[in-house]
Amino acid sequence: APPVTIPMLQAWRAEGRRIVMVTAYDAAMARLVDPLVDVILVGDSVGNVCLGFDTTLPVSMAMMNHHVEAVARSRPRALLVADMPFLSFHLDLPDTIRNAGGLLQRGAAAVKLEGGAARVPAVRALVECEIPVMGHLGLTPQSVNAMGGFKVQGRAVEAARRLLDDAKRLEDAGCFSLVLEGIPAELGGRITQALGIPTIGIGAGPDCSGQVLVLHDLLGLLPGRKAKFVRTYVDGYGLLQAGLSAYAEDVRAGRFPGPAESYALPEAVRAALD
Ligand code: KIV
Ligand code: NA
Repeated sequence: APPVTIPMLQAWRAEGRRIVMVTAYDAAMARLVDPLVDVILVGDSVGNVCLGFDTTLPVSMAMMNHHVEAVARSRPRALLVADMPFLSFHLDLPDTIRNAGGLLQRGAAAVKLEGGAARVPAVRALVECEIPVMGHLGLTPQSVNAMGGFKVQGRAVEAARRLLDDAKRLEDAGCFSLVLEGIPAELGGRITQALGIPTIGIGAGPDCSGQVLVLHDLLGLLPGRKAKFVRTYVDGYGLLQAGLSAYAEDVRAGRFPGPAESYALPEAVRAALD
């Protein structure tokens, strides 16, 4: 299959072909998902999933750069989108452009950033520099303190109106797509209807132009932290534990390694040593 491009996503939205997006944070996982998805997101969820933080707030540009480089080295054919972490696009525009441009120089095709109307100047500045931007509205994890927790957004009239307005402003500012997270399904559908660009839902109902999930959530690798919007497609934790458990038993019983996993000493060398 040919590499996925931004114009292809726009065309698929027009045709009604749903866009499949998933996160990946390193080369091995990127190789696993690349043949099956359209868009790979190096999310700042790397902070929770891989780095052990409770929120995405401690994730830095250095951390994002490190993981984007790892994923980019797998040369995915899926479109590679990189999250801009907290404070990397809030301070001033030159800083924002340098941070986003650095992600593109490391192999990302686009950046994603959280927020509505307040982020329009940043989006405009990036798009003017040929840096494609995916927006992200609703339950934006970088806003956890302002939201008072990870809570569904847009459930009141004013909040729902503001989300619709923010979505239109982000499209006008030049976003090529929009992630909608943690909002009522009907609002996800209404925003998708109101826009010409594709929406990617996560906890935003079935009427978005595509869907995204955190890879480790859908693979069942993180037992005990499942949000309502996650569907676990495989008991990854159980399957991998079973494999590890068999390895540990084999080592303890002297069954690993066996002849097949061992190197033979050449006959002549054995004779010389005897
Ligand atoms: O960081 C992330 O994984 C995300 C997606 C879940 C949208 O932003
Ligand atoms: Na994110």
